[in-house]
Amino acid sequence: MRLPIYMDNHATTPVDPRVLETMMPFLREEFGNAASSSHAYGWHAKEAVNKARRQLAELAGVQPEEMIFTSGATESNNLALLGVAFDQNTTRKQIVTQATEHSAVLDTCEFLAKRGFETTILPVDQDGLVSAETLREVVSEKTALVSIMHGNNEIGAIQDITRLAQIAHEVGALFHSDVVQTFGKIPLNLGEMDVDLASLTAHKMYGPKGIGAFYMRKSHAVHLAPILHGGGQERGCRSGTLNVPGIVAFGTAAHLAQEEFASGHLDDLAALRDRLWEGMRDNIKGIHINGHPEKRVPGNLNIRIDGIDAPALMLSMHNVAVSGGSACDSHDNAPSHVLTAIGCTPEQAQSSVRFGVGRFNTEEEIDFVLAEFCREVKKQQNSLL
Ligand SMILES: Cc1ncc(COP(=O)(O)O)c(C=O)c1O
Repeated sequence: MRLPIYMDNHATTPVDPRVLETMMPFLREEFGNAASSSHAYGWHAKEAVNKARRQLAELAGVQPEEMIFTSGATESNNLALLGVAFDQNTTRKQIVTQATEHSAVLDTCEFLAKRGFETTILPVDQDGLVSAETLREVVSEKTALVSIMHGNNEIGAIQDITRLAQIAHEVGALFHSDVVQTFGKIPLNLGEMDVDLASLTAHKMYGPKGIGAFYMRKSHAVHLAPILHGGGQERGCRSGTLNVPGIVAFGTAAHLAQEEFASGHLDDLAALRDRLWEGMRDNIKGIHINGHPEKRVPGNLNIRIDGIDAPALMLSMHNVAVSGGSACDSHDNAPSHVLTAIGCTPEQAQSSVRFGVGRFNTEEEIDFVLAEFCREVKKQQNSLL
């Protein structure tokens, strides 16, 4: 067992060795620019990019040419919101989203609000879900875009995207979804979900950091203003030399995810997560699940314990790597905006810990984490008596 045990797979995942193996040649001998059309280095790079695009599209249930490579989901989310807001073809000025989005969406909305756009942030219920009725009440022919994430990065709540997309389309708005936490984690089909735009990233699905994708449905109704200008790569939507090794890795990661779905690994992951929860529930007083007990991504477990100081608890667990709020945007000590949005008080949010079980965690590791967690919680509880 390698210590500390990594159970923070919502923040990032380790690169799968099989992914690393396929990307390495593109850092060494196959270093060509995919835009070089006059020699074999360029042709090989382009072929590799095309293959990866097909692999991603297959996992997403869309056409390869609908996938645009970016540097990650932060960029993809920015492209969706800014791209639609600044599109010359529309006079619509309202962007609708919800309170538990990643900061890459919420902060971009704030940026747009300061520049004259109307941004509407919808509340969620105690399970972290937006209701279709609430969305229907706020959208109109003024709405340019509705952006609702699929799986939440803190509490794992999974939204009914198909239903929400339908409501956006009824008023002629575009629909975007940040699917970072579900793509490659549960089977999903962006085509059938009827989304127009979606954000993906490789490092949450056993690929490297710094490579992501943006799904853009090919339809005359879907257009946006690029945010990066230059060489006109990626259908003119995202200029910049393609990150070929990263793209190859992302394609392999998508292919492996598909194999995992076929092999029933999802059930194994949920079973590991449930083993962790059952062990906690049976041994710790005053413990609760944040969010819905079942409707969540398979590896996610977010718990709170009455009166516990979670940051101190995490520091005391030397052999376990987990997280309190959202590690991707924990630049301040404010209570998690996701937990407060589902009704937690600031104190409850400060008593919460997020576990993200991943592909490489084992039953032995779950039991080890459980033992260390229960021991440290009891120490803190006893010191409070
Ligand atoms: C839901 C969600 N969206 C977006 C991001 C940002 O992705 P990236 O790190 O690829 O920019 C993250 C995490 O970092 C996330 O969890």
